[in-house]
Amino acid sequence: MADTTAHDGTDAPEHGIRTDFKGRMSYGDYLGLDRLLAAQHPLSDAHDEMLFIIIHQAKELWMKLMIHEIRAAIAAVQSGDLGPAFKGLARVSRVQEQMIKAWDVLSTMTPADYLSFRPSLGESSGFQSFQYRMIEFLLGAKDRRMMGPHRHRAAVFADLQATLEAPSLYDESIRLLARRGFDLPAEVIERDWREPHRPHPAVKAAWRAVYADPQRHWDLYELAEKLVDVEDWFQQWRFRHMKTVERIIGRRRGTGGSSGVGYLQKALDRTFFPELWALRTEM
Ligand code: HEM
Repeated sequence: MADTTAHDGTDAPEHGIRTDFKGRMSYGDYLGLDRLLAAQHPLSDAHDEMLFIIIHQAKELWMKLMIHEIRAAIAAVQSGDLGPAFKGLARVSRVQEQMIKAWDVLSTMTPADYLSFRPSLGESSGFQSFQYRMIEFLLGAKDRRMMGPHRHRAAVFADLQATLEAPSLYDESIRLLARRGFDLPAEVIERDWREPHRPHPAVKAAWRAVYADPQRHWDLYELAEKLVDVEDWFQQWRFRHMKTVERIIGRRRGTGGSSGVGYLQKALDRTFFPELWALRTEM
């Protein structure tokens, strides 16, 4: 008979696998899986509602990680320690890639599948994703009108408000340019952070100087390219969202009250780092 007792005395029937977790931290405990896996509550009998719920929850989890990383990147840029910011932003871009791939899973749902449970959604809509709005604000796309759908949740509203009022990743990057000696006026580096960043010729001139001599400004150059990566992936996410929505609901209005695909198409015009895109035309 095989010896089933591991060297440390625990019961290990095969391959040294532990089987007694009384009083010990286990996989499910550590990950809070009981709560996580009990959080899917389809409201209809439609088979595809489970897919719809899980895809949204998975994206919200990834967004939680993005927020964690972008906040750390903001702090790193603030302190001028760019190495950790690069690492964090590279991770954000890999997460974005996963989120874009996830549209392929949702695209297996046909218009009829979606319509079979659409009434269950009521007026719930991505407009009420506070994490999505938080990411937009953290990157620099401030728009206080988008706070409205979160007014009914005091804690979330306060968190968003604090993010709206603080300098974004782009604001901090521009302030870093100023600390590195680029000539940037007060209206750019000490502005009302609640307002969206408006393209400014001095900011474009500073980034252009960085791109004109990468050897001299290598870390700023790398920061700029990391920002462009994040925006590039963000736009690809928006585009795949828009096309997936068109594929599933055509030109119907959204559950959040917008025109639907028309609104999502316009959202593609919103840019986070306008000068970094504009300078490319002039190089
Ligand atoms: C069948 C699938 C989906 C449909 C039909 C759909 C439809 C829409 C529509 C029509 C809008 C515009 C606002 C409105 O009127 O509701 C919207 C916004 C939004 N959706 Fe979706 N969506 C789907 C899946 C997803 C998924 C999986 C996510 C992932 C989190 C998501 C996140 C968002 C966000 C964040 C917005 C706000 C975008 C902005 O304001 O720029 N949607 N969606």
